Amino acid sequence: MRSRLPALVVVACVAVVSGCGRSEPTFSSRQGLAPAMDEYVRTSIDQKFGIPNDIRVWDRLPLRPHAATAVVGEGAQDKILPLTLVEQHRDLVNGQEVVWVAGTSMPQDSAKVKAESWNAEANLLKLSAAPPAPPKTGDRVVVGPGAVLVHGRALYAEHCQHCHGVGGDGKGPTAPYLNIRPRDYRKGLFKFTSTKEGLKAHRDDLGRIVEEGIPGTYMPSFKLLKKNESQAIIEYVLYLSMRGETEYALYNILAGDYSNDSIATRVKDGETEDKIVSEFVTRVKEGEIDDDASSMLEKMIGDWTTAQTPEAIIVPKEKRYASDAASIERGRALYLSNNLNCVACHGDSGLGDGIQTYSITVNTETQKPNLEPGLYDTWGNKIKPRNLRLGMFRGGRRPIDVYARIEAGIKGTPMPAFGGKMTEQQKWDLVNYILELPHEARTPGTGVAPVTANAAPAAPAAAH
Ligand code: HEC
Ligand code: HEC
Repeated sequence: MRSRLPALVVVACVAVVSGCGRSEPTFSSRQGLAPAMDEYVRTSIDQKFGIPNDIRVWDRLPLRPHAATAVVGEGAQDKILPLTLVEQHRDLVNGQEVVWVAGTSMPQDSAKVKAESWNAEANLLKLSAAPPAPPKTGDRVVVGPGAVLVHGRALYAEHCQHCHGVGGDGKGPTAPYLNIRPRDYRKGLFKFTSTKEGLKAHRDDLGRIVEEGIPGTYMPSFKLLKKNESQAIIEYVLYLSMRGETEYALYNILAGDYSNDSIATRVKDGETEDKIVSEFVTRVKEGEIDDDASSMLEKMIGDWTTAQTPEAIIVPKEKRYASDAASIERGRALYLSNNLNCVACHGDSGLGDGIQTYSITVNTETQKPNLEPGLYDTWGNKIKPRNLRLGMFRGGRRPIDVYARIEAGIKGTPMPAFGGKMTEQQKWDLVNYILELPHEARTPGTGVAPVTANAAPAAPAAAH
């Protein structure tokens, strides 16, 4: 089991990206609150998450930000720490900082020393100098605080930022030229996951995206990154995501009463701006805003934590059914059925031209009708159902990938989850059909395999 540092321990792991002489980058922030409230949100978020060149790692977040966390074992001497590693995400190297975590024997402010060498066989860390007080058995330490995130931030700036933006808002300088927009991470929502309906992404889902890219979009593959590099980038993307969600939640808590628009209305109704601001200050002082924000944070932390557990992952209850002609035929019938109604979006020939692409649809985020016909994603972008005849699968082309898309839907898009509507065999029949569709004759509902004069049958009727 993976244990973590005790909750509520806030390690201010301050990490400065070195060699960065350019002007200080900032995370973008949500617009639309009146200045006083806007300032409150910014300060509050910066306290928790820091700024790009001075990242703070808030240990309550389910991230793997540090090189290692450890407990001091028996027999510590001034400069020699026997360590039981709790988590290790990086090599422990010379020069890394060792920080005592709050609540242990070390006087807090001064409890920072440098590592000199790590003996992995004996689990002994040699320090370059003795810490200010004798280390005690059971003390908790962080080695290389924030090291993974700092590495991730540098790589992100190099490889991802020009599309996904400094703060992960999906608005980097290249973004306006791309017609499927780079993901805005700040909703904490990812499309192509291996996790069950309604759950957040597992970090390995992001790992797969970084490794494979998203075919048919501008999201490139980064196969050439080393394992520890892509791991660092993923932690950083998760960090940006959690930061964005926290900011968005705080923004949402305040927007009802204090957006520029709400304030304008309140002033029109006879309140003064001063009175509104002092009301806000009182609410902040009484902890009301913080209470709302912390229950939201609990939920966010819980949701991310849940998504990392094995129980969150979609595991088919039955093995894949053979993709024979009968299965494909059953899959086709399911695809065309009123019950599943895939055709409403993907069209009866699978071209992605179903009736919903030219009807007014309900927005999945606001639950209100969209202004123009067609489908929209949760980020407010117009979105097309996939042309299933191209054989291009953005979330991966393995049968299990297509299974997961059907089982849990595509998160943040109108493509719903169908898992609850089908038996296990039906799910595999549909997967078999979808994988076969690119080879199917163009007229819908006409017989089984596409047998043309010159081509070999794509779906042999032979039994498996
Ligand atoms: C050339 C632009 C571009 C670059 C560079 C780029 N991306 Fe993307 N990325 C995209 C686009 C476009 C999408 C949205 C694709 C979609 O919605 O199907 C995306 C989506 C994603 C997603 C969302 C996957 C999901 O399931 O929702 C992740 C995660 C991601 N990118 C991570 C990265 C990381 C990490 C890097 C750098 C190592 C990176 N991207 C570099 C364009 C880019
Ligand atoms: C309400 C509209 C809607 C319905 C109904 C719908 N889809 Fe989709 N589907 C979409 C959209 C939109 C996308 C593209 C999402 C994206 O990549 O951003 C999509 C994408 C897909 C993909 C591509 C996955 C990938 O990895 O690229 C498959 C496969 C798919 N749908 C299968 C189905 C099947 C099978 C059904 C019926 C059981 C179905 N869809 C019902 C809207 C819908």
